Order: sequence, then structure tokens, then C-alpha cells
Amino acid sequence: MLIDTYGRVATDLRVSLTDKCNLRCTYCMPEEGLQWLAKPDLLTDDEIVRLVRIAVTRLGVSDVRFTGGEPLLRPGLVGIVERCAALTPRPRMSLTTNGIGLKRTAAALKAAGLDRVNVSLDTLRRDVFKTLTRRDRHQDVLDGLAAAHEAGLTPVKVNTVLMPGLNGDEAPALLAWAVRHGYELRFIEQMPLDAQHGWKRDGMITAGDILQSLSTRFTLTEEGGEERGSAPAERWIVDGGPHRVGVIASVTRPFCSACDRTRLTADGQVRTCLFAREETDLRAALRSDATDEAVATLWKLAMWGKKAGSGLDDPAFLQPDRPMSAIGG
Ligand SMILES: C[S@@+](CC[C@H](N)C(=O)[O-])C[C@H]1O[C@@H](n2cnc3c(N)ncnc32)[C@H](O)[C@@H]1O
Repeated sequence: MLIDTYGRVATDLRVSLTDKCNLRCTYCMPEEGLQWLAKPDLLTDDEIVRLVRIAVTRLGVSDVRFTGGEPLLRPGLVGIVERCAALTPRPRMSLTTNGIGLKRTAAALKAAGLDRVNVSLDTLRRDVFKTLTRRDRHQDVLDGLAAAHEAGLTPVKVNTVLMPGLNGDEAPALLAWAVRHGYELRFIEQMPLDAQHGWKRDGMITAGDILQSLSTRFTLTEEGGEERGSAPAERWIVDGGPHRVGVIASVTRPFCSACDRTRLTADGQVRTCLFAREETDLRAALRSDATDEAVATLWKLAMWGKKAGSGLDDPAFLQPDRPMSAIGG
């Protein structure tokens, strides 16, 4: 298994399928000028399936989330899902996506064995979406969400990042909309992962701000009885239930001590954390004919060195060199 020196065990694998994206969200990517990974540097579909197989059959990984960049841009996505679904034990599989193109592929992904999706949507306003993502694709995301719901990729979760002066006032409207459509909304605090390195702590909307704003319109009851465990979202029951809303306070209330994640970039590097500054090259091992056992050992060694925390609170904190789109969110 993937255990670290603090006794945490990673069972949740995030696999980035590409660093490319069809949006340019301001908190994630620059408007232009970001260098894509060269095609030969990307893991092939076979390499991805092999690494997932090693993770699932040798390292105790039970949950696999495909992400990016934008994973729907990966031509082989449905095939990758199908092959991973055939593994024993079968991992639970989900997808983090901006939803563009999901209208076309949701049913095929469900049939291939995908369990559910998280769709990122930060605003209900088309003009704000265009400013925030630098692309006029709001309706495509709404259509993708509806298709995912209809295909049974449920619960459909919606990931939202709020920013002052843009969509910072939309929390109550977004929650009302999510309740109406049966989506589970999760607010994520903005993290220092933008390509421009422009994040400032005092410029972010905190979990506390979000809860205060929601409570102007909803009665929120903290979900009791259950441990937060390794789930990053703290959840609240909305107006007595059954609907829930989550808040991921990655900055103000980090969940590092219960972290159960291991990450694989689209070019085959293991990262122990979004904010890690070191990576371990599994692609080189795969391409030099390493055995499954040798690859698994390398992965274990990488995770063994996982740091206690993200380091966000350390005055000497240095943002990772790669932006979120290249790490895999
Ligand atoms: C990097 S994206 C990749 C997957 C897919 N393209 C999507 O939009 O969901 C994954 C998630 O990371 C979030 N994200 C990106 N940059 C972020 C940042 N600086 N702080 C917090 N969340 C961020 C996005 O909002 C999205 O929900």
C-alpha cells in the first residue's frame, strides 16, 4: 500500500489525462503562452491503464478520478475508463470536467463504467462565465451537466470557486439552482495554483465568507455523526435536507492530516500533493521496461516521502512550478 511516514495511506488516485484545456479560467491558466506537454511526453492509453492496474492491484488504490487539463479532450477517455472498469478489484471511478462535450459522451462514459462526475461551474451568468473562463461556453457546461444527470453519473457534483468582484456574490443563487436541479454543490477556496502566480490570501473568499453568505437565504446544519475523515468537503444539510452543500476549505482549514491522495500527471510523474515541489518519474520506469513490481516500489517510495502538510501556512511557501492545469486538479 501507499503509506507515508505519518501513517497516512493513499487509496485515492487522481490521474491527469492531458494538460490541455478548452477554457482559460483566470485562477488556473494564463490567457495564452502556456507551453503544452509534447505528445511523446504524455502517457499513452496503455501506460495509463497499466499504472492504474498497478495502483489498484498492488497498491491498495480503491478510487480513481480522471482529471486534467480537460479530460474530455483525451480521445481515448472512454476506452481508458472501460479498461479500468474491467480490473479486479474494480475501482470506483469519477471524472472532474468542465462539462464541455459531456452532452455527447455522458452516456458512453456511463456505459464504459464511470460512476460519477464533478463538473466545474463558477457562475450562473453567461457574461461572468466569459470573463472568468475567457470563453463563451456557458450553455455547453449547462447542457453537459444535464446530460450527466440524465445518464445516471450521479450524484452530479458541481465545483465552484468564488472570487471577489466577479462571482463572489453568487453563492446563494448557485445553491438554489443546484437544489432545483438535484446537483450537489461544493465551493472550493481559491488556492495559489494559477499560472500567473497572482494569488493573494487577503484577496480570496474564505469558507467562512461562503457560509455567511449562504446563511442569508438557507438554514444550514452541519452534517453530524459522521467524521470528516479524508473527505475534503465539510458538508451542510440545506433547509433540513435532503440536499447538502459542501465547502472545501483547502486554504483556511486544510485537511492534510487525513489526506488519502496520490497524483499522477499526464506525463507520468507521481505527486504526493497538489503543492509538492518534487515529482517521481514513473514514465521513465515504464519506458525502460521496469516490471510492475519495480514501478510499484518506486511509487511506494515516492509516497513514503509525502510531507505533513501543503506548506501553505509557511511564510517560506513556494507555489509549485506547474500550474493546476498541468498538475491535474
Ligand atoms: C484544474 S480543473 C481540471 C479538470 C477540469 N478541466 C475541470 O474544469 O474541472 C479541476 C478543478 O480545479 C479547480 N481549480 C483550478 N485552479 C484552482 C485554484 N487556483 N484554486 C482552487 N481550485 C482551482 C477548478 O475549478 C476545477 O474545479
